[in-house]
Amino acid sequence: MAMNTLQEKFEGQLARVYFSEQQFVEAQAKMVANATDPMLRSGIEKHMQETKQQVSNLEQVFTLMGKKPEAEKCPICMGLVASGEEGMKQAGNDALRDVNIGGGAALVEHYEIAAYRGLVGQAPALGMTAALPLLQQNLQQEEQTAQRLESAAPMMLQKAAMA
Ligand SMILES: [Fe+2]
Repeated sequence: MAMNTLQEKFEGQLARVYFSEQQFVEAQAKMVANATDPMLRSGIEKHMQETKQQVSNLEQVFTLMGKKPEAEKCPICMGLVASGEEGMKQAGNDALRDVNIGGGAALVEHYEIAAYRGLVGQAPALGMTAALPLLQQNLQQEEQTAQRLESAAPMMLQKAAMA
């Protein structure tokens, strides 16, 4: 679809993030099923619940724009999900699988952080200040999740180094 205005660009990005969050709910369920480290599991489980809330926040943003929520296939998300699944399959032991799951989840969070920072940055120029708290809440949850994953990493790496 041709894109001629910043508004259209914003809408397209919103539709791809909306698609991505829904995919990530499923991807996180698979991660939880495959993870063995209790902190990793509970961290991902907690964020899976937050992700469901984020989906509904995005639906509210669509509503504020007078639009029906519409998902658009996002190639970045598809790549992240495929590479996360590959990482789980390839790992020859639980400790390495946990490291791959933590790393895959961190990649997802950093993509989401960049996407939400982009949306938060564009919203004021489009006069969409009402959408800001919703987008900022999602952004904050992604930032906190990335931080939690990063602080869980050293312990998992220690275990993997000894496996
Ligand atoms: Fe996230």
